[in-house]
Amino acid sequence: MNLTTMPRLIVGDMTMRLPIIQGGMGVGISLSGLAAAVANEGGVGVISAAIIGQSASTTIHEDGLQARKQELAEEIRKARKNTKGAIGVNILVALTDYHELLNVCVEEEVDFVFLGAGLPLKLPDSFFELSKHHRAPKIVPIVSSARATKLLFRSWEKRHGRLPDAVVVEGPMAGGHLGFKISELDDPENALEKLLPRVIEVVRAAEERLSIKIPIIAAGGIYTGADILRILELGADGIQMATRFVTTFECDASIEFKKTYLNAKKEDLTIIDSPVGLPGRAIRNDFLAAVEAGKKVPIKCPWQCLVTCDHTVAPYCIAVALEQARHGRLKHGFAFAGSNAWRADKLVSVKELIHSLIREYELARLGEKVSNLKESVTAPLPTLNTNQS
Ligand SMILES: Cc1cc2nc3c(=O)[nH]c(=O)nc-3n(C[C@H](O)[C@H](O)[C@H](O)COP(=O)(O)O)c2cc1C
Repeated sequence: MNLTTMPRLIVGDMTMRLPIIQGGMGVGISLSGLAAAVANEGGVGVISAAIIGQSASTTIHEDGLQARKQELAEEIRKARKNTKGAIGVNILVALTDYHELLNVCVEEEVDFVFLGAGLPLKLPDSFFELSKHHRAPKIVPIVSSARATKLLFRSWEKRHGRLPDAVVVEGPMAGGHLGFKISELDDPENALEKLLPRVIEVVRAAEERLSIKIPIIAAGGIYTGADILRILELGADGIQMATRFVTTFECDASIEFKKTYLNAKKEDLTIIDSPVGLPGRAIRNDFLAAVEAGKKVPIKCPWQCLVTCDHTVAPYCIAVALEQARHGRLKHGFAFAGSNAWRADKLVSVKELIHSLIREYELARLGEKVSNLKESVTAPLPTLNTNQS
């Protein structure tokens, strides 16, 4: 039973009880534990495939690719065992293993694949080949502009004769890697509230032309139920939240990682120039301060994990730094975080979090109704025409 007026999220033949997607968080921050917990509450739980494989039984040094594929498959199966809800996987397009990890998602029949950190202008042939024998996942690219959406749609229509199943529009307040130049981040024109209607225009035009439905999911800085209401009222079909899910018991990161959020102050949120070649939002710490001051951490690159990284010039290995951070060794790494990370003050369960989002959403809705009612009550009465004819 749905105890909320929040709309359901419908993507093709799938219906989610809530329009809430938990954003994929690498490295190792959202795995099967968090994903299953979110899916159990009626949202979409998302496993991050970024630099997965460090704990697979085939070690990364024996056969790296096999280890990554194996751990991703194991995480998907674990999530499936713990929920009947919707499970997705987030893959960075910039990963050198992108195609192989996508193949695992098709073989394991996940419900959704979210493609971030790069524009997937085409899908690999293996995706279509494997999809003939499996229930193909719904493909949801992550975009940060109307221009990128147009480009993506044009390319998919030409090459594949189809469009994505949904799109995520991610604004500049998000955590992790951002699809903007550093100089664009504070431009009010790029705020999610401005960006979203522009992307909606592109998507709705394509929907009308092709008589299809492409749900639009908004992300970046959405933190409360009132935020969810505001963004859905702007025309989004769903929302994606990540930062808020880090401070849950079920989040797969170590307690030390979660504590960086609980201890963060607003001024600790910072923008870094990541070795991936994109800006990223993170919590400032001694590791990042040392890098900023010019310190270089020697890199042993076991495999070129990112197409865009040049390990001969990168000041540190981002895969190692993020892997260290998730295990709580923050002297050797740092935590990515959205602009609202400083607002968390305690750990809660995913169930409690979802309930408080619903409560906040319903209160905000009620507040809007009351103020509309007040407006209509205090509006001047129409003047009566007393002229007798
Ligand atoms: C710790 C962390 C790691 C993230 N890692 C990824 C990632 O691997 N791939 C990706 O597409 N987005 C990643 N993101 C972005 C989120 O999926 C999400 O879209 C965004 O953070 C939403 O904004 P919010 O955190 O303010 O809710 C990450 C975000 C955080 C906070």
